[in-house]
Amino acid sequence: MKTLLHQITGSAQAAPHRAALIAQTLRLVWGASARWTLAWFGLLAGLGLMPAVVVALTKRLTDHLVGLLAAGGSDPRQLRQTLAIALLMAAALAAQQALQSALAWVGATQTELIQDHLRGLVHQQAIRADLAFFESAEYNDRLYQAAKELTSRPPALLESLGGLVQSGIATLALGSLILPYGLWLPLALALAALPGFWGATLANRRFHRWWQAHTADRRRLQYDDTLLTVDSVASELRLFDLGPHLIARYRGLRQRLRGEQLRLVRDQSLVQFGAWLAAAAVSAGAMLWMLRQALLGLASLGDLVLFYQTLSRGQTALQGLAGSLSQIQRHSLYLQNLFEFLALQPQVTDAADPVPPSPRAAGEVCFRNLTFRYPGSSRPVFENFNFTLPAGKITALVGFNGAGKTTLVKLLCRFYDPEGGRIEIDGVDLRRMRLADLRRLLSCMFQFPVPYVATVAENIAYGDPARPPDRAAIRRAAHAAGVDAFAEQLPHQYETLLGKLFAEGVQLSGGEWQRLALARAFYRQGQLLVLDEPTSLMDLWTEVDWFERLRRLAAGRTTLLITHRFMTAMRADLICVLDGGRIVESGTHEALLARGGLYAQAWHDQLAGEARVTPPARKPMPGGALGQTVLPTL
Ligand SMILES: Nc1ncnc2c1ncn2[C@@H]1O[C@H](COP(=O)(O)OP(=O)(O)OP(=O)(O)O)[C@@H](O)[C@H]1O
Ligand SMILES: [Mg+2]
Repeated sequence: MKTLLHQITGSAQAAPHRAALIAQTLRLVWGASARWTLAWFGLLAGLGLMPAVVVALTKRLTDHLVGLLAAGGSDPRQLRQTLAIALLMAAALAAQQALQSALAWVGATQTELIQDHLRGLVHQQAIRADLAFFESAEYNDRLYQAAKELTSRPPALLESLGGLVQSGIATLALGSLILPYGLWLPLALALAALPGFWGATLANRRFHRWWQAHTADRRRLQYDDTLLTVDSVASELRLFDLGPHLIARYRGLRQRLRGEQLRLVRDQSLVQFGAWLAAAAVSAGAMLWMLRQALLGLASLGDLVLFYQTLSRGQTALQGLAGSLSQIQRHSLYLQNLFEFLALQPQVTDAADPVPPSPRAAGEVCFRNLTFRYPGSSRPVFENFNFTLPAGKITALVGFNGAGKTTLVKLLCRFYDPEGGRIEIDGVDLRRMRLADLRRLLSCMFQFPVPYVATVAENIAYGDPARPPDRAAIRRAAHAAGVDAFAEQLPHQYETLLGKLFAEGVQLSGGEWQRLALARAFYRQGQLLVLDEPTSLMDLWTEVDWFERLRRLAAGRTTLLITHRFMTAMRADLICVLDGGRIVESGTHEALLARGGLYAQAWHDQLAGEARVTPPARKPMPGGALGQTVLPTL
């Protein structure tokens, strides 16, 4: 069965082969910084050779000491040679330490570079992904895993790769030291390491399967953890006494996951111990054989020392080699999520032969026979839907919750493509336009705008980051949206930091944030102005002023004003009522009232409610009272 993500991406991805994953991982490390990787590799190679150098020197030192002692310590030539070897030994140990220190520095640099490289790739992919991706649980799983792995996996992977290179070279070098005693020796030692590697591989796969299957559980844990700790939830949490309930849910799930995870770790430890026993038995057998050779006079004391040291160091190196290989395999499995995430292809893309933008767009928008359902949903929001926004006019769209008003905005922004029919701007299908050209035409305020933790001016200028900072235009947008009424009172006016995330941040009220979002939409000078519930949090007195400002600002632009407030809708040039996926009524306020339909009924109901509200003596908004406001054009 096709998953939702495959529906969205249009392609089912076959899981890449493990070797391909490791190769991809290595390319990633190389791509992050080739020079540091080379330096890192060189240091590791040097460190890998050191154990064999030290063992070989130890053997020579032992043999020379034995010779020196046999000669009563009086032979000056032998004494000089022994001293020279001891000095070499000291130099080798110092070099080993120097290499280790250099490796720590190079490794840390390399890790940072890889992390930044990966984070950059994830950020790029996150901003190009379709909006539908963010609404899919599978996508969230992948993004969550990819983001999680960014901080922990690359350093771990680097360590394992380092371990592999170092242990690999150490194993080869040590193996070559005992090769003269018999080919079977290094072979037997290598075979003894196999059970450990096999056990680790099995355990990795088992653990990874378990880990993948519980991604949603871990996201649930993170969600509960966020609910318990973020400021936006803190008030409801206290009022409803939700805290203990959430803590209990978090603990329960954690306990279950912890139990399962620890059982897997315990099994892994048992397998590791068994593998160690096998390897130790082989080493012990080899050591006994060498002891016999020494007793038979076929090996010197130096040979015995070399053999003992090679076996103990060789076993450590082999264990390191097997461990590193299995860890690389494990990290690659985890990084698979990252690669899959990076490979996701957006479906909403530019046309192959886009229509160039018209310098004189009138801005008539037509929804023609539009059929649309959200990905993963069986119920269409629109079926053969037709609707026209006349150019240069303010059209108010009213309708019940869930009627599809916001969905129309998302379709107009081309966050999704319709299943059937099309949307046209001045007769051009949106899919024939470049996405960037389309979005330049749009000044949108969404139903739930983002309260950016930034200054007032930045919050407004985010509406058009491509435009060089323009203080005058920011002030004009602020004035049009009624932001100036409170911005002037803030400690640093337009330079005041908003939100409580950082020191000195000032919190705004819901309605003030909304006005700020409106100013952001106004700052962007698109030919189409789309406002989804722009006054839902505004006080009624401000709202009256606001519409007059909007009318001046919207002059010559096509405006879609989605609202539940009939006092706002009534002032539009055209009012349309959306119900059951159709425009069931449209006309001017007077015409719709005369019609006595849904609009007239809702109007009377709302009027009756608002008549009961007695406005207090009002303070005029900066910018003048209704009808006197002089708005400079943006
Ligand atoms: N991302 C989504 N995925 C699936 N279904 C969705 C999604 N967003 C909205 N819907 C569904 O589409 C329908 C229309 O939603 P929409 O948000 O367009 O309504 P609306 O008219 O803007 O309502 P409101 O007045 O409450 O803002 C609703 O039934 C809703 O459940
Ligand atoms: Mg809505």
